[in-house]
Amino acid sequence: MLNVLVTGGAGYIGSHTCVELINNGYNVISVDNYSNSAPQVIDRIKKITGKDMKSYCCDIRNKKDLEKIFSDNKIDVVIHFAGLKSVGESCKKPLLYFDNNIFGTIVLCEVMQKFNVKKLVFSSSATVYGDESLPPYVESMPTGKVTNPYGRTKYIVEEMLKDVFSSDNGWSITLLRYFNPVGAHESGLIGEDPKGIPNNLMPYVSQVAIGKLSKLTVFGGNYNTPDGTCIRDYIHVVDLARGHIKAIEKTMQNQGINIYNLGTSRGYSVLELIKAFEKATGKRISYETGSPREGDIAVVYANTDKAFCELGFKAQFDINKMCEDAWHWQSKNPTGYVIN
Ligand code: NAD
Ligand code: UFG
Repeated sequence: MLNVLVTGGAGYIGSHTCVELINNGYNVISVDNYSNSAPQVIDRIKKITGKDMKSYCCDIRNKKDLEKIFSDNKIDVVIHFAGLKSVGESCKKPLLYFDNNIFGTIVLCEVMQKFNVKKLVFSSSATVYGDESLPPYVESMPTGKVTNPYGRTKYIVEEMLKDVFSSDNGWSITLLRYFNPVGAHESGLIGEDPKGIPNNLMPYVSQVAIGKLSKLTVFGGNYNTPDGTCIRDYIHVVDLARGHIKAIEKTMQNQGINIYNLGTSRGYSVLELIKAFEKATGKRISYETGSPREGDIAVVYANTDKAFCELGFKAQFDINKMCEDAWHWQSKNPTGYVIN
C-alpha cells in the first residue's frame, strides 16, 4: 500500500482528495496547521471512508517537525495543497503569501530531498495563464503574466519545481492547474468553509441561499460575453479529487515534469451559475450588478485534452450536481465545521 503525504489535507480540496485516496486503497498521512481549516475535518474524512488515517498538526515551514514526520513514516509520494489562496489578502500581505506558499514549498522539497522522496503533485492554478492568451487555455501556453501576489506564488513555485527537476532528473513532479473547484462531497460531511465573508462565487451564493448574506453582488455586467458577466470553468471538487488519483498514478510511473489542466472545458457565466443554483435547490438568489472586480478576466476555461489523453481524466459531474452538493453541504452545516 502506497503512503501518500498530503499537505493541507484538512482543507477544501485536500479533504476531498484524502477521501478519494483512502477509497482507492492509499494510506494517507495529512499535515496541516489548520490556519484555514479545522481538525474536525479529519474525523469527517474517517466517518465518510470508515477507515483510519494519520494526521499531524504541523506548519510545513517548520523543518524540524516536518523531518520528524518523514522519519516516522515511509512516504512514497507527496500531494502539496498547503498554501494561502485569497487573491485580495495576497495584495494586502504579499510577504505572508511569499513566505507561506514559496518558502513553505522550499522547506517541503528540501525535506523530501533529504529523505529521498522525489515524487510530488503540486496544486497550481489557472491563474498562471494570466490574460496573455485567449481561452481555452492549453498547458503549453505562456504563463507568468499574473495579476496578483497569490498568482505570482503559483507561477514562481511552478518555475522553481521545473528547476528542481532540471537539477535532478530523479524527481517526478506533476503540476495541476485547477480551474474553479466548487461543490462538496455528496455526504454533506465535508465542503468549503470560508472564514468570514466568502470571496468566491459559489460559497457566496450558498450563503445568500441560507440567509446568512442578503444579496450577491455580480461583479460587472458589461464584459464581452453573451450576458455581460464573466465566464468560468467550474469543476466539481470530487472530480478534481479524482484527478489527483490519476496524477498520482502518472507520478509513480514516470520521471519527469508534467503539467495538466483540471477543469471541464465548459464555461458558465455568473448569471448562468445563479440560475443553475436556483434550479438545483429551489432557492431564490437575490443579486444586483455592481462594478467589475479588479484583476478579473472575462472568460476562463480549460482545454482538457492533455489530462484526458495522458491521465485518462474526464470530469463526470455537471453544473446541476455541483450546485446540489454545494447546497447540501451548506444547509447541513450552516456555520461550517465550527458549531456556533
Ligand atoms: P484551503 O485553504 O481550504 O486548504 C489549504 C490547507 O492548507 C488549509 O487546511 C490550511 O490550513 C493549510 N495550510 C496553509 N498553510 C499551511 C502551512 N504553512 N502549513 C501547513 N498547512 C497549511 O484551500 P483549497 O481550496 O483546498 O486549496 C488547496 C490548494 O489548491 C492551495 O494551494 C490553493 O492555492 C490551490 N488552488 C485552489 C483553488 C480554489 O479555487 N480553491 C484554485 C486553484 C488552486
Ligand atoms: N463573482 C461575483 N460576485 C462575487 C464573487 C465572484 O460576481 O461575490 C464573480 C467573479 O467576478 C468571477 C466569478 O464570479 O467572474 C468567479 O469568481 P471566483 O472568485 O469564485 O473565482 P475566480 O475565477 O475569480 O478565482 C478562482 C480562484 C483563485 C484563482 C482564480 C484563477 O478562487 O484562487 O480562480 O485561477 F486565482
